Amino acid sequence: MKTVTTTLPEEAAAFIKCGGIVAFGTETVYGLAANVFDEVAIAKIFEAKQRPADNPLIAHIYDLVQLNDLVTNVTESAQKFIDNFFPGPLTIVLKKQDRIPMNATAGLDTIGVRMPNLDSTRRFLRLCEVPVVAPSANISGRPSPTTWQAVLEDLDGRIDCILKGDPTQIGLESTVVDCTGKVPVVLRSGSVSIDDLRSVIPETIAVSGDTSDVPSSPGMKHKHYSPVARVIIVSDAADAISGHRNAYIGIDDVPDGFSIKMICRDVAEYAREIFEFLRECDRKGIRTVYCQSVSDAGIGTALMDRLRRASED
Ligand code: TXA
Ligand code: MG
Repeated sequence: MKTVTTTLPEEAAAFIKCGGIVAFGTETVYGLAANVFDEVAIAKIFEAKQRPADNPLIAHIYDLVQLNDLVTNVTESAQKFIDNFFPGPLTIVLKKQDRIPMNATAGLDTIGVRMPNLDSTRRFLRLCEVPVVAPSANISGRPSPTTWQAVLEDLDGRIDCILKGDPTQIGLESTVVDCTGKVPVVLRSGSVSIDDLRSVIPETIAVSGDTSDVPSSPGMKHKHYSPVARVIIVSDAADAISGHRNAYIGIDDVPDGFSIKMICRDVAEYAREIFEFLRECDRKGIRTVYCQSVSDAGIGTALMDRLRRASED
């Protein structure tokens, strides 16, 4: 298959309308879209990404009018989060409409929905005329793409089209919160922090890996965000070992002697750069990447979650 790259949202949306799959930018990471009602197109996403079939997809909308096509009812907690955080990097999980094919949600009776807050993204979504499901546009297990070039690196020849846009602003995937039960449960951390959610609904809890009585996010158990290089988390930058084929990223500076190093101004910049940095390490044949830890607050929680997963074998 030839992958068309374009800057024209009309051209990209035309592929969605005839059952194709299209990569597009959002404020978080690049996604890979298919018509939410088209089972065959959705199957192409799983195939292109080599994504495990038990990992559900997030539906993307440009306007709240599309919500009723996706979910059976909007719970009180969901409504509050919508009022406060839509459009934005927050995905809410609700009971799905029967019309949505089961492969979109990996057999679950719920669906995650989010409304990206980038104008260019919503223009594309509007032109698609249907909601689209879209996972991150990477080969499963690799760092999520934050540039269209990173999408091309993973998926050239495997997808119909890439809608070229700017590098993404946030750089980490959306926060996922289950709103089907009595209390909202955060399934994946993102730039909307648990404190942000608690400022609206104080009872909101975070899922913890070892509880079995709360809903879980199937995707979180899979290997994720992993470069070929080994990732080692250090709290003190001085513990990073320099050398040929070693790399460092963090807030504090380190002496020269690393093949690549990146010093970030703040945690937001670190979050924005981490996935592209890990990809660059692979391009340069780096063996070990030292990543400085950050404090567990705000987007730091999400960044630490991704670093921990990247460091697991
Ligand atoms: O920022 C984002 O969310 C990006 C952009 C493209 O919007 N998308 C993204 O999708 O990160 P993906 O497929 O890489 O991650 C989806 C996550 C997975 O952890 C999945 O398990 C969880 O959301 N998820 C999706 N639907 C769910 C559901 N019905 N119940 C529980 N978890 C769900
Ligand atoms: Mg992903």
